Amino acid sequence: MSIAKRFTSILSLSLTLSLGVLAALPAQAREFKLGLITPPSHDWTKAAYAFADQVKAKSSGDYSVAVYPARQLGNEAEMVQQLQTGALDMAFLTVAEISNRVPDFGALYAPYLVDNIDQAAALLKSDTARSLLDQLPAEVGLVGVGYGMAGMRQVLSRDSAAGPADLSGRKLRITPFEPIRDFYLDVGAAPIPLPLPEVYDALANGQIDAIDMDFDSMLIFKFYERADNLLISNHMMFPMVGVVSGRVWKGLTPAERELLQSNMREQLDAVIDHFQAKEKDQEQQLRAQPIKIREAGERDFAEAINKWEETWSGKAKSLGKLRQAAAEIKGS
Ligand code: BEZ
Repeated sequence: MSIAKRFTSILSLSLTLSLGVLAALPAQAREFKLGLITPPSHDWTKAAYAFADQVKAKSSGDYSVAVYPARQLGNEAEMVQQLQTGALDMAFLTVAEISNRVPDFGALYAPYLVDNIDQAAALLKSDTARSLLDQLPAEVGLVGVGYGMAGMRQVLSRDSAAGPADLSGRKLRITPFEPIRDFYLDVGAAPIPLPLPEVYDALANGQIDAIDMDFDSMLIFKFYERADNLLISNHMMFPMVGVVSGRVWKGLTPAERELLQSNMREQLDAVIDHFQAKEKDQEQQLRAQPIKIREAGERDFAEAINKWEETWSGKAKSLGKLRQAAAEIKGS
């Protein structure tokens, strides 16, 4: 073989080898994007970063996850659209956003479905609650990996409120979703949908009189500085869901799916555990503030609950089985 021919065949061999390596690279070194609305200080965001660290460590750096907190990629409705097109790979979303698209998820917001955070944790980890996630691929093009949660919902108001009667006619901030809107309409309040980052200013400038919120966010965002009456009602749980884009999921190998699914589930469970562990302490932190605290329970909200059930028992077909699972948890 002439020197020129030998050189050409060595060149073509090395080119073939390099192309082979390059073809393997995208699967070997891939970055996923995960979006969420909460700020860096929030437990959901910390869990997203912990998930990213785990994916990187367990794949020896072959896969990484870039986390976009604080609505950097848009609000939840916009992120769902990006997930549907495959422009976004993963997200931690409030179930609120999901319930706007799949009404059955409204069942998770039935008032007093659970009485406290321990029962909320047990219900969200149950097979019954998890079975709702099976609807997501067909209904919204998302794969539901599992639930996280924030704390139980309470009412913080500028003027004193001892129970639902005192909320009548008040402009009360809600997370924008239908089951909570209906609950406060049934209470007789005037629900105002506002995303979390707009709440502090709206309270400060009097645009709203009261807010529907959890202890954790009241402390993180110091809402109690602007509204000094806390009605501890524990009227609703507040689930979050970890999702992967259905389009992206279809293109993943079984090993890639397992890597994302098992590590995300672990972090979502940890979010539930954290909120469960810190709720009592957070209540004490708020009780230590110069604010007036009142308490109300299921009996006080009975009329609103009945109206809510009339509307939602038709819309949320899983309500019965969730109530059954919750009753078993309450009785155990
Ligand atoms: C809210 O809209 O109240 C909320 C959203 C995410 C985490 C916690 C609270």
